[in-house]
Amino acid sequence: MVVPDLRLHESNTTFTVKPFLKWAGGKGQLIEQILPLLPEQLKSGKIETYFEPFIGGGAVFFHIAQKYKINKAVICDVNEELVITYNSIKKDAKLLINELEILKEEYLLYDQENRQLFFYKIREIFNKNKDSFDFKNYSKDWVLRAAQIIFLNKTCFNGLFRVNSKGYFNVPSGRYNNPAILDVQNLINISNLLNKINTEIIWGDFEIIDEKVNKNDFVYLDPPYRPLNQTSSFKSYSKFDFNDKEQTRLRDFFTKLDKKGAKLMLSNSDPRNENPNDNFFDEIYNEFRIERVFATRMINSNAEKRGKISEILVMNY
Ligand SMILES: C[S@@+](CC[C@H](N)C(=O)[O-])C[C@H]1O[C@@H](n2cnc3c(N)ncnc32)[C@H](O)[C@@H]1O
Repeated sequence: MVVPDLRLHESNTTFTVKPFLKWAGGKGQLIEQILPLLPEQLKSGKIETYFEPFIGGGAVFFHIAQKYKINKAVICDVNEELVITYNSIKKDAKLLINELEILKEEYLLYDQENRQLFFYKIREIFNKNKDSFDFKNYSKDWVLRAAQIIFLNKTCFNGLFRVNSKGYFNVPSGRYNNPAILDVQNLINISNLLNKINTEIIWGDFEIIDEKVNKNDFVYLDPPYRPLNQTSSFKSYSKFDFNDKEQTRLRDFFTKLDKKGAKLMLSNSDPRNENPNDNFFDEIYNEFRIERVFATRMINSNAEKRGKISEILVMNY
């Protein structure tokens, strides 16, 4: 397949890049509420580096990177699969597109039953390779694995990325007539964008960005949600849990970055949605400005419970 050499639109209003994966906790629904609360320095092009240490599907990052002038970005996630996928798009979008095209063509050739079998075959190969995979040194293998990640994400049930306690992808097959497995234009646009703003893509815990953050930077932090109740806890993005102890460790990190003078924004679920007396975030972030905004939460096993709930935004400006 010949991949066209497509360029990003330079326009401020035409957004040509959108997330390449459907990701739990994706901030697509919240962007309009976040925009007016972004720091003035970002809007006036005075931010040097944009940081996002819980990048996930990158909805906020892609939006900001297209709307405002930033010279450099550092994105990070503890999920190594995500990190190799971003890197593969940045470094070799053409090979990635070719690999996805091969997976897509075979999938679409089959009837529903054989599509399921094909999905489970790719899932098995993907999980089998995990333990011996070199997640540290970039190679062509990253791109081949990235193609499998995107394929599995687009064809699995509900389009989610979820792993079990051993880190194996365990979402069952979905049933799709014409799943959007490959969006050539979007992948090329993302690749151009990641290169244009010199994006560093790091695998690790959020604290890994500590030494890189300076006074004129902006950091957007979107950690895994604090479960609203015992049963709604979708938090298996990776094999690491994000409990209240982790939320408090993150608060300490937020305070540390604040002392450096960087501009900071953090989002999370509002525990008051479930329990009006639960002031967890109000208490741990009592030194900072807290705003409540409304979002449509998509991840809930019970469809009737999906609806408008408030989210918390914490800012140090
Ligand atoms: C709420 S999601 C981010 C969603 C993202 N803003 C979006 O729009 O798609 C949280 C992300 O944090 C990552 N994560 C969990 N624990 C982490 C840690 N200790 N350090 C860095 N990333 C972590 C998860 O893998 C997940 O991708």
